[in-house]
Amino acid sequence: MQTFYIKTFGCQMNVYDGQRIESMLRGRGMLQTEDVAAADIIILNTCAVREKASNKVFSELGRIRDRKKPDALFGIIGCVAREEGANSFRRIPELNFVLGPQSYHKLPEILDNPDARLLNIDLSGLEKFDALPPATESPAVAYIPIQEGCNHCCTYCIVPYTRGRELSRPFDDVMRDVHAAADNGAVEICFLGQNVNGYKNSLANLIKETAKIESIKRIRFTSSYPTEMSDDLIALFGTEPKLLPFLNMPIQSGSSDVLTRMNRPYSLDLYIDIVNKLRAVQPDIQISSDFIVGFPGETDADFEMTCDIARQIGYINSYSFKYSPRPHTAAALMKDQIPENVKKQRLKILDDILTENNRRFNESCVGQTMECLIEGPDKTGKHLLARTPYMQQCIIDVGANENSPNNAHENRANAHPTKSPISSGPGFHSPLQSVKITSANKCSLRGEIVKTES
Ligand code: SAH
Ligand code: F3S
Repeated sequence: MQTFYIKTFGCQMNVYDGQRIESMLRGRGMLQTEDVAAADIIILNTCAVREKASNKVFSELGRIRDRKKPDALFGIIGCVAREEGANSFRRIPELNFVLGPQSYHKLPEILDNPDARLLNIDLSGLEKFDALPPATESPAVAYIPIQEGCNHCCTYCIVPYTRGRELSRPFDDVMRDVHAAADNGAVEICFLGQNVNGYKNSLANLIKETAKIESIKRIRFTSSYPTEMSDDLIALFGTEPKLLPFLNMPIQSGSSDVLTRMNRPYSLDLYIDIVNKLRAVQPDIQISSDFIVGFPGETDADFEMTCDIARQIGYINSYSFKYSPRPHTAAALMKDQIPENVKKQRLKILDDILTENNRRFNESCVGQTMECLIEGPDKTGKHLLARTPYMQQCIIDVGANENSPNNAHENRANAHPTKSPISSGPGFHSPLQSVKITSANKCSLRGEIVKTES
């Protein structure tokens, strides 16, 4: 039997794309392997958002080239494939295929014709969603893309180039995927998109429709553009209990000047106004952000404003990056590029603030009981890892409660309905459990299960 190896870098969209490919290959009778040296087909599913990520792909390709079976099919898909195009074959001549993020459904062509070389970096729109068979297995959390690409054209971002202009999937197609995921055992739906709340067929209606499905207990979406938080979407945080009280809404910078040069045309006042509206309808909501430090021309005063807003909003679970000049972007050509050592210092300062926010929020959770989604055992097998409604990681001491099964591995099978149906088997009957938070630090929580959900 033939085997495949796939490694995914980057965002949730890539994770989803990787799952679709895995499903397609399994459908062709192939088995997944972790051993790249034994694989008959090797795929790197790549991210080009930052230069470092992009370079990492080529060093990994070099390592794989030296280890792979001589006749293994070997290629890259995703944003680096689109960024580098035919140049990928020059850099790594052994590559058999280079497929962009909207062309990976062409993969069967190379499987059927392994002696050919395949390059396709077209932006073929939504074709890929229909061209491959739907995933036949859903873990407890199903990621469902609803739109592809981005029209915002932030001056630093390569995504509009690699993933193309924004396209929204038809409402009924998305709902078909949601129902399929629910039928396959998903209890949480996460809607995905580079600009998810720019979905043209109403994200609010999608959430309402999804919430009607009895077996779906949690709904979330990522990543949101601040000015596309419509009033009906904001209101849902107050009225739809299945919508988790957690939102990723990247601000990127706290300086209006920098935001203007980033082509993110919202004022700080407008952003804060949206946060206040969200808090008015859902006082428990927590917000996360992405930040870029060291954008061209960012002064100490600009950076200080970013630190201020990070403290003021009290973001949790946020991401911060050093600005990385990318090809095909306007900011790469701006003057006043910031030296690497300054970017590094600023990143450290901001990270300390974000970590302190996390620590403070995590500590405020101690003593509370939260419904958490059990993801599976940790590396030691002695604990279970779970996600709170705010996406914090919670480590559960197994055996702390009489309702808990004896070992974490047994639980894992129940936490992943594809491996063992959640409605049967010993131990938990649902991957969702009420967990009492017993302690916290800056990274995670610890807790114990207080009752099994019926
Ligand atoms: N809306 C998208 C965001 C795409 S990129 C999503 O769904 O994920 C993810 C994050 O990477 C951005 O929010 C930004 O903070 C960061 N980023 C993008 N381009 C970057 C660059 N050139 N340098 C550093 N960080 C970058
Ligand atoms: Fe990139 Fe800005 Fe869109 S960060 S994905 S161009 S909103």
